[in-house]
Amino acid sequence: MERFTFQNPTRIIFGVGSIKELEKHLPIGKKILLLYGGGSIKNNGVYDQVLSGLKSRSFVEFAGIEPNPKYETIMKGVELSRKEKVEFILAVGGGSVIDAAKFMALAIHYNEGDPWDILVNNTAKKVENVVPLATVLTLPATGSEMNAYSVISRESTKEKLSFGARSCYPVFSILDPTVVKSIPPNQIANGITDAFTHVLEQYLTYPAGAPLQDKFAESILRTLIEEGPKVMKNPGDEVAAGNFMWCATMALNGLLSAGVPTDWATHAIGHELTALYGIDHARTLAIIAPNLYRSVFDAKKEKLAQYAEEVWKVGSGSVDEKAKLAIERTTDFFHSLGIKTKLSAYTTNYEGTSEEVLTRFKKRNVKSLGENNIIDLEKVKEIVEMSY
Ligand code: NZQ
Ligand code: ZN
Repeated sequence: MERFTFQNPTRIIFGVGSIKELEKHLPIGKKILLLYGGGSIKNNGVYDQVLSGLKSRSFVEFAGIEPNPKYETIMKGVELSRKEKVEFILAVGGGSVIDAAKFMALAIHYNEGDPWDILVNNTAKKVENVVPLATVLTLPATGSEMNAYSVISRESTKEKLSFGARSCYPVFSILDPTVVKSIPPNQIANGITDAFTHVLEQYLTYPAGAPLQDKFAESILRTLIEEGPKVMKNPGDEVAAGNFMWCATMALNGLLSAGVPTDWATHAIGHELTALYGIDHARTLAIIAPNLYRSVFDAKKEKLAQYAEEVWKVGSGSVDEKAKLAIERTTDFFHSLGIKTKLSAYTTNYEGTSEEVLTRFKKRNVKSLGENNIIDLEKVKEIVEMSY
């Protein structure tokens, strides 16, 4: 196991009915921004519950954060927050609303030019005077409710860039499994696939003498395999929904990556597919991940074989055979959720994608990805072309 520092400051308030706890966790005497998305919270009762928690507080609202949140929209919220002297942000939504809140938290008091530069120059950690934020999660998927990352898109340039800074950990996050009931099946499938791939990004590298980390990862994968289909079948199953929700949060809150190598190349390439074609984040991961594992098979096969044994219960065969089976089982799992794993299933315009992805990486001076930088640009090209 490698050396690590681990601290996660986000308070989790979990359980059926936990949105009712909101008021007691909100700061007193601070002007609050209530941030949300396209309005699903107004149809499923979450908005009313949140308003009841806010009734003794001074607040303003900003709605309309879209999936793959756009810089252009977020900056309108930043303007409002500056005008209203907002001191605390309450994000009510999925990863997109929460990520938007994190960018706003940095941008509101930013006075060194265009806040987009924070993303381009990777300076999030240097930003001082960050507005604190908290969340009411409505879609288990990204783990944004308990991590310090955010991914923001810019419509005018078709870019999708990420950042992370300790100052962006939510102060608290409310995880109430009853919110899952109203999530459309395609978004539940996305959430399971995203959480599943987050674990794989931190697990499918090479043996690193970290059996506890491996077992954390394997248990989240197994739980998602068991509970995911139950949630797909009946999103009102609060027990399964709660387990799915907790898996998604634990999959990307810093615990799994402590002391082990991580990959994240599937995400880096996947973000470009969303930026280019607007494909849902999780679906880009299902397109890329299996081919990435095929492309760097030798480097990953030991962990792939372990994954086959521990998660898919493959009992016999050589390391190579088990590893190959693990990739097939993963693809079958995505298919079982209704997630297609070929780029051509999402766009007819896929010719030339590999060249475009390479051009974008070169422009940003990205030379290699993955653990030990095993994925150079030639490999990226190969992986994208295998995914057509
Ligand atoms: O806009 P609203 O009305 O909220 O509707 C949303 C949206 O249309 C809807 N929805 C959410 N909760 C619902 C619901 N509909 C009915 N009932 C509910 N309870 O679902 C749609 C998708 O929401 P979105 O927030 O976009 O989904 P998700 O949570 O999958 O977030 C995706 C974004 O997160 C980024 C992705 O790149 C993408 O931009 N990621 C963020 C990460 C992080 N911060 O750590 C890591 C991830 O790897 C990912 O990159
Ligand atoms: Zn993801």
